[in-house]
Amino acid sequence: MQNSPTPFYNPLLSYEDNYHQGPFGDFRNLNVSADIQSQPERFLNMEVNLPFGIPAGPLLNANFIRAAFKHGFDLCVYKTVRSRAQASHPLPNVLSIHPAGKLSANVDTVLADNQYTQPLSITNSFGVPSYNPDIWQADMAEAIQSAQKGQYVIGSFQGTPGNESSIEKDYARTAALVNETKAPILEANLSCPNEGVNKLLCFDFDKVERIAKEIKNVVPDKPLFLKLAYFADDNAIFPLLSKLDGVIDGYSTINTLSARPVDADGKPALGTDRPTGGVCGDAIRWAGLEMVERLARLRARLQNHFAIIGVGGVSCTEHYQAYRAAGADAVMSATGAMWNPQLAIEIKKSLNK
Ligand SMILES: Cc1cc2nc3c(=O)[nH]c(=O)nc-3n(C[C@H](O)[C@H](O)[C@H](O)COP(=O)(O)O)c2cc1C
Repeated sequence: MQNSPTPFYNPLLSYEDNYHQGPFGDFRNLNVSADIQSQPERFLNMEVNLPFGIPAGPLLNANFIRAAFKHGFDLCVYKTVRSRAQASHPLPNVLSIHPAGKLSANVDTVLADNQYTQPLSITNSFGVPSYNPDIWQADMAEAIQSAQKGQYVIGSFQGTPGNESSIEKDYARTAALVNETKAPILEANLSCPNEGVNKLLCFDFDKVERIAKEIKNVVPDKPLFLKLAYFADDNAIFPLLSKLDGVIDGYSTINTLSARPVDADGKPALGTDRPTGGVCGDAIRWAGLEMVERLARLRARLQNHFAIIGVGGVSCTEHYQAYRAAGADAVMSATGAMWNPQLAIEIKKSLNK
């Protein structure tokens, strides 16, 4: 891999091998001093060292989360879990992609390969795998135990069609299972291809409202974030924010932008059965920033206080600061952190200058 340290998630290995053998590279070293003196900040009603961390995905289990905390990522999201086991898609799950310029939100065709060059953008395609609750609940509880002062685990989950009488009920049941681990914050993933209109659940506002209310009914006293995709304008998302006014505690955005990754011969790079994949990293930063600005503007219009976690293409201090300036209460990096395990330490050091 060019120009970068060893990623803590190895894209050449399967999800299962990463789960059992990872993390890799610097994250294997737990003997690091990441507590750089800084004034803690408030996130929700909690004190966090720096409201920066890793979103749902690359942190597969307690071993990954412990390493991330040790390396100064203070908000760590445990990869999305389900109420029943589900296998991962086969390899490839992660490929580097090379868009000509910035990626549009219109499912662009992009060259994909194993050349992980900077500025890095990747496609990821896992199908949201999960172990059974008896495995992930104990492991998530262990991950929560590994947090030091000013650090928090966020438990990400999603409902699965067919696991309960309705998807709403399965979201609520999985939220209850996550809550049993004592996760201090919950995040419902609504931005993976699912049951709703236009493929993504978060575009089906009535369903999202029912899901959020079912979850709050079952777990009323934990902060609840919803993970959202990119919405192209204010009017497209305002009705959702109005419906959920006072129901949920925050939004995490964005997930990925969809694209068609192809190999050098123009064939689907993830396999013929997976013509599209979610893109993350540098190419989607514009969309993440735009969504955070949008949510901050609409938050002011609604005179609401929901929190915003800004995600997408963060790989240096300037990106962190741009998200904060756009209105994010916290910022997270998946691709940037995977290929630079020192990212949180670097940001903390440069902010303290
Ligand atoms: C390897 C990998 C796995 C991911 N898995 C999930 C997931 O299980 N649930 C989820 O909500 N988002 C998932 N994501 C999306 C990230 O949380 C994030 O929204 C996206 O990668 C954009 O951030 P980035 O540009 O910093 O990578 C995953 C991302 C990556 C790179």
